[in-house]
Amino acid sequence: MSKPTYRSLRPVYPLIAQQLLDDYRINSGKCVDLGTGHGYLGIELAKITSLEIYFVDLDPEVLNKARENVALDKLDNVVHFVNADVAALPFADNFAELVISRGSLWFWEDQVKGLQEANRILKPGGVAFIGGGLGRYTPPTMRQRLQGLGRKKMEKKGHTGFLRGAKLEELVKKTGIANYRLISDVEGEPGHWIEIKK
Ligand SMILES: C[S@@+](CC[C@H](N)C(=O)[O-])C[C@H]1O[C@@H](n2cnc3c(N)ncnc32)[C@H](O)[C@@H]1O
Repeated sequence: MSKPTYRSLRPVYPLIAQQLLDDYRINSGKCVDLGTGHGYLGIELAKITSLEIYFVDLDPEVLNKARENVALDKLDNVVHFVNADVAALPFADNFAELVISRGSLWFWEDQVKGLQEANRILKPGGVAFIGGGLGRYTPPTMRQRLQGLGRKKMEKKGHTGFLRGAKLEELVKKTGIANYRLISDVEGEPGHWIEIKK
C-alpha cells in the first residue's frame, strides 16, 4: 500500500464513518476494525462516537502506523492495537457491537474463516460491515477519479479485483452465516459490502 493511494483515499474515510453511524446508530461499546491498515476508518469513527476501537491487522508494521495516526489525532476514545489474523481472532464470542472492515477481505487467505470469526465475535444485536469501496456518501466526481486510480493500481499488481455480486454471495453462503445482505455504494450496482446482523 503506497502512500499516494492512502493519501488520495483519505477523504472517503470520514464519509464511510458517517454512513456507518447514520445506518446503524452504534456510538458506544466495542468496535473491531479488521485489516485496519493505517487505521483511518477506525479513527474517523472514533472521532464521531464514544466507541472503544480495536485496530486489528496481520502486519505489525502497518499496525504501528495506525498507532502513530491515532496518537497524531489525539483521540480520547479507548483504543487497542491487536496484531492478529482475521482467521483466528483473539476475542471472546459476542464481544463487539460493531465489526468493520474496508478493503481487506480481498487479501484474506481464508475468507470463509475470517467472515465466520467476524460473526462469532459480534454481539447479538450487533452489526458487521465488511467489504470494500468508497461508501455511498462519496460524490460521483470523487468516486470516478478514485476508482480510476484503484483500477490502475490493481492492474499493476495483477490483482483480480474485488468480489462483488454473485461471487461475493457465493463466498458468504459458504460461511453458513444466515442474517446477511449485500450492499453497494451506488444503487443498482452489484453488492460489494457484506452487512451481517446478529
Ligand atoms: C488494502 S489494506 C486496507 C486497510 C484499511 N482497512 C483501509 O481501508 O485503508 C488491507 C489490510 O488488510 C490487512 N490484512 C490482510 N490479510 C489479513 C488477515 N488475514 N488478517 C488481518 N489483516 C489482514 C493487511 O495487512 C492490510 O493492512
